[in-house]
Amino acid sequence: MKNIRIGIIGSGGMASRHAQNFSQTDGFELIAIAARNPETGPVLASRHGIDYLPTYRDILKRDDIDAIAICTYNDTHGEIALAALDANKHVFTEYPATRNIDEARQLLSRIDHSSRVLRVGHNEVLSPSHRALKRQTAQTGNLITALFTRLTPGRGQRPEILFNISISGPPALFFVYNIYPFVDCFGPATWIEATAHYENLRDDSTYDSFANSVTVGFENGGIGQWNWAGGIEISQAEEYRHIVMTGGTLINRGDGWCLSTKSGERDLPAAEPSDITIQTQFLNDIHNGNWQTDARTAINAALIGLAAERSMEENRRITLSELL
Ligand SMILES: NC(=O)c1ccc[n+]([C@@H]2O[C@H](COP(=O)([O-])OP(=O)(O)OC[C@H]3O[C@@H](n4cnc5c(N)ncnc54)[C@H](OP(=O)(O)O)[C@@H]3O)[C@@H](O)[C@H]2O)c1
Repeated sequence: MKNIRIGIIGSGGMASRHAQNFSQTDGFELIAIAARNPETGPVLASRHGIDYLPTYRDILKRDDIDAIAICTYNDTHGEIALAALDANKHVFTEYPATRNIDEARQLLSRIDHSSRVLRVGHNEVLSPSHRALKRQTAQTGNLITALFTRLTPGRGQRPEILFNISISGPPALFFVYNIYPFVDCFGPATWIEATAHYENLRDDSTYDSFANSVTVGFENGGIGQWNWAGGIEISQAEEYRHIVMTGGTLINRGDGWCLSTKSGERDLPAAEPSDITIQTQFLNDIHNGNWQTDARTAINAALIGLAAERSMEENRRITLSELL
């Protein structure tokens, strides 16, 4: 089988990581880096002995590139993904799939019609803990409520740019990897209500600390709720997940999932570790298809973040049908 010739877009942390991983994955051949940064872009390209191009549009024009990996900030993922699919390239993008409702709508329609793959880099599809959870939720009756709470004293070791609302979106968007697992188990939302408090929100969209709460009604029944607060007064980070279903409550206190019922608690056996990486998953998508369900899940998860932002701005419940 011919190698898939791939170009990387961006030259920051994730671009370096993906350039390394794709170059070490059989079945891919790294061809070029497209990056706006005239210092880090050429350095990354020369580290791999490949071409440097100044804009992503240059890479889309190249006939010797079959696929791209988008590693830029959240506000450009959707625009670049759409342009790449239109240029007949397979697309791997860092999450979130998009920062924009109109792009989400366009991406959803491309999934149904594109002969090219869209893979969003949610590693949960490969995680033994998540796969064990998904298997168990399918056997535990109907969802009543799924709850997620994360409280952190600082803002973590994350790039500062993530705490910029206009570029990265609200926490419900840049923490989308905590929404994706519930959407993967329970399907899309029908309505979203969200509130947010930002401390020292400045004109340039940056802020010092935040508290966000997002509640959804799932299309298949049951309620989901995510609460995040960062930069708050607490001695150490705390994170909990509870999934209340008619047949039992699944609990994760940070050390794996257990199933709790009136007769006691038992740990869920982890699924077998996956021997494939997100890069080989993308390769399988290209050669074997069947990527559409995961792509839809990723966009439905991002839509919760985008609808949450609209709900906060307009101070009302948002239904997904009014956005799509
Ligand atoms: N999967 C994961 O575990 C994971 C972890 C961390 C981050 N992420 C996601 O990966 C993405 C990149 O994060 P990162 O940590 O790699 O950030 P980073 O180190 O700051 O790198 C971002 C890169 O994107 C470039 N860029 C940003 N906006 C652009 C635009 N409009 N046009 C062209 N290039 C642009 C930047 O160029 P400049 O140098 O010129 O600014 C930089 O090269 C983010 O969406 C983030 O949410 C995923």
